[in-house]
Amino acid sequence: MLKACAFLSLVGVALSLAIPSNLPVFCHKLDCPQFTVVENTTDYELRHYDQTSWVSIRKEAANLDIVRRDMFMTLFHYIDGENADQVKIPMTAPVLTTVEHGAGPNCASNFTMHFMLPHAQWAAPIKPTNSQVNIVTLPAMDVYVKSFPGYASDEDFISMAVELYKNLATNNKHTNVDKKQYNEASYDGPYQFADRHNEIWIGKLQA
Ligand SMILES: *[C@@H]1O[C@H](CO)[C@@H](O)[C@H](O)[C@H]1NC(C)=O
Ligand SMILES: *[C@@H]1O[C@H](CO)[C@@H](O)[C@H](O)[C@H]1NC(C)=O
Repeated sequence: MLKACAFLSLVGVALSLAIPSNLPVFCHKLDCPQFTVVENTTDYELRHYDQTSWVSIRKEAANLDIVRRDMFMTLFHYIDGENADQVKIPMTAPVLTTVEHGAGPNCASNFTMHFMLPHAQWAAPIKPTNSQVNIVTLPAMDVYVKSFPGYASDEDFISMAVELYKNLATNNKHTNVDKKQYNEASYDGPYQFADRHNEIWIGKLQA
């Protein structure tokens, strides 16, 4: 009979085989979405992502700081076993947060935080049990990306998003980009001290 430990190590092999082998170095060996670089300049990088699968939670708030921890913990509970199969799901990268601006300077915004599902689970995602948690498929997309290192605060992400919009305008790309929302991508937990990596993604609208 196959022992539980042997079975688990076989599952471990199967899972690690399912992770693409040429992941970007800033994923620090975590499973993460693959992309191709369509264009690279000093002002921006244009990437193409194929369709990707995520678990997400959406909240409206005056700013992300108010809801970040709550959203993170709710998604963390999903991967920590609060799901229909009561299993732990490996952590992936990045934590992707979609910021949809409200109308007017003092208005609330909608924030959607996403954890990528491990590639091995894309075909059959494990159902959440918390009704606030959703399995979502993001369609194939082209995004303009600005990367920056270090511990990123809310203000850092906002100022990088502003800078990326400016860089796109300088390059005459601004007429063809999504101005209603952008994404913040965080690749590292709090205890990754070296080589921390963050990104802003702004969607290129399809012509
Ligand atoms: C894009 O270009 C920048 C500098 O212009 C460089 O540092 C970076 O490594 C390049 N990225 C890719 C993916 O080629
Ligand atoms: C957030 O999204 C909801 C619908 O999902 C919408 O009714 C609401 O107006 C949005 N809030 C803002 C600030 O855009």
